[in-house]
Amino acid sequence: MKNEIKFWGGEELPLELHKVRVVQKLHLVPVERRLEAIAAGGFNTFKLSTPDVFLDMLTDSGTNAMSDDQLSAMFRADDAYAGSQSFERLHGAVREVLGKELLLPVHQGRAAEHIICRTFVRPGDVVPMNYHFTTFYAHAVEQGGGIEELLCDGALDIHSENPFKGNMDIAKLEECIARNGAGKIAFVRMEASTNLIGGQPFSMANLREVRRVADRHGLMLVLDASLIGENAYLIKKREPEWHDAQIRAILHEMTSMADIVYFSARKLSSSRGGGICTDNKDLYLKMEVLVPLFEGFLTYGGISTREMEAMAVGLFETLDETAISQSPQFIGYMVGELMQRGIPCVTPAGVLGCHVDAREFCSHIAPEQYPAGALAAAFYIASGVRGMERGTLSNARDTEGREVPADVELLRLAIPRRVLTLSQIRYAIDRLAWLWENRSLIGGLRFTYEPAVLRFFMGSLEPVGDWPHRLARRFREDFGESL
Ligand code: F0G
Repeated sequence: MKNEIKFWGGEELPLELHKVRVVQKLHLVPVERRLEAIAAGGFNTFKLSTPDVFLDMLTDSGTNAMSDDQLSAMFRADDAYAGSQSFERLHGAVREVLGKELLLPVHQGRAAEHIICRTFVRPGDVVPMNYHFTTFYAHAVEQGGGIEELLCDGALDIHSENPFKGNMDIAKLEECIARNGAGKIAFVRMEASTNLIGGQPFSMANLREVRRVADRHGLMLVLDASLIGENAYLIKKREPEWHDAQIRAILHEMTSMADIVYFSARKLSSSRGGGICTDNKDLYLKMEVLVPLFEGFLTYGGISTREMEAMAVGLFETLDETAISQSPQFIGYMVGELMQRGIPCVTPAGVLGCHVDAREFCSHIAPEQYPAGALAAAFYIASGVRGMERGTLSNARDTEGREVPADVELLRLAIPRRVLTLSQIRYAIDRLAWLWENRSLIGGLRFTYEPAVLRFFMGSLEPVGDWPHRLARRFREDFGESL
């Protein structure tokens, strides 16, 4: 992906349009310590501690850099339990940026999913969607419902030129409604920048089509807007009709098509919080009762007042193209560099992070030994960089307890907004290139502790064979004893 700023020498580099004014010291611990740390964490990168992590590319959730405006806004927080002016400012930002009149605050994105599913999903219901997200899926199932994923053709092809792999297949949506009956469809869900298939956007044209079908069958459309800023940016870049539009206009057009818009503010705008927005008072009232029960009073919903101030400012910053394009441009750079080295990544480069195809990277590892989980552990040993498994391990087992191989088996290397420098990205590329050369040393993983729900968060695994030691030994031979 080209940066807007041209270099005279012809280089194509993403240029940081911000400066770093607060820093946090990082530690690059030796490979021996990395080996100990990942073993102690059950070969699960979620269970590593910050002192053992050099670059944290686990997620962008709650880890995007805050701006000076956000931090200063936090000082004027109004700590009232009810009627807080911090909530009023957040509400104003939601009206302005997301174009929705009513707002229910919740402590994070999955809390919104809990309330939406609890209100609208009945046992036996189906939620058609472009693709699932782990927490939404868990909440739909918790209510006795199920999901159907209606991705467009080729959406799961790792290497593709389709600019909108997050599109929903409209014919499949029609078929799904006809087969289940509209009465059994709780609502249709569209996820902006489809997380689990590599941060792939949908197009405005597709969203319009989905709306049209939903209207014809009297169905509600729910939009997961956690990554809506980046989806809007990619609509502007990739969908000709929107080339000259302001991000604000694109966002409003997107949200205007949804009956309910919900978001994780940890991704969209700040480091905590979430929200459910709508223009429909009846829908609002149905959900409203659950907010004081599970989250907190209606003017804070489990979010601190300081955080609401940061959320409000962060929402306005979503309108700034230099802010929302920073992460996708770094991702575009990293994907381009890795592909040049023959390392398979999801293309086109999407949002949130660089997604490495673990199925090809670790083609010698059986699917039920979690190639992406193994690659995440191996990459940490090789670099101190923490990524996240997004594959079979992140799936739930089926009702018979059988493993469900994921559609795509990915190592996600998140690039939170304005946090990492380009030389840090180059370090990650370098170590991944080393690992690619030595990939035959990586082996599989198996569970030693497997939680029943969202097992990838807290599960513990062990290596099949002694491959982590062999990998660390090779690393030491190539890079020397000390770092
Ligand atoms: N929807 C999407 C698209 C998400 O990516 C997430 C979180 C959620 C909902 C849930 O929000 O974490 O605030 O409860 N994604 C994080 C990630 C966890 O790392 O991709 P939450």
